[in-house]
Amino acid sequence: MEVMHGVNLDQLGRRDPAVYGGLSFNALELRVERFARDLGLEPRFFHTNHEGEFVEHLHRIDGLADGVVLNPGAWTHYAYAIRDALELTALPAIEVHLSDVETREEFRRVSVIRDVCVATVSGRGPDGYRDALVLLREQLA
Ligand code: DQA
Repeated sequence: MEVMHGVNLDQLGRRDPAVYGGLSFNALELRVERFARDLGLEPRFFHTNHEGEFVEHLHRIDGLADGVVLNPGAWTHYAYAIRDALELTALPAIEVHLSDVETREEFRRVSVIRDVCVATVSGRGPDGYRDALVLLREQLA
């Protein structure tokens, strides 16, 4: 299964800790890796700040991965190309956000990927990835 991060997530640790917590991106990926292995999943990680690369990675994993946990960052709210690429993969996908996007600015309440995801986990910090992996494992069973 694939864990995909999008724009600005690599800057965790520098972003507002009151919103995103204090973990660096590297530490977050290590934690997610541990969650996944504890659940018997084999994670692969991908990050980019370039929307086209995110789209092309979705094209590539079609047929290779069995599921996706993704946090596309701000692209979540407007990137229809990512939504369409995710639909194309036809893989079970879980959307994750560290912060509670429902209680922040208005523009964050919109997710253009939600309708092609099995579930959304938001506002649970790093533990939200564990929730997402549990949900994905249920889908894969
Ligand atoms: C985020 C929420 C987005 O609104 C924001 O643009 C991010 C991170 C989150 O994990 O809480 O970059 O996806």
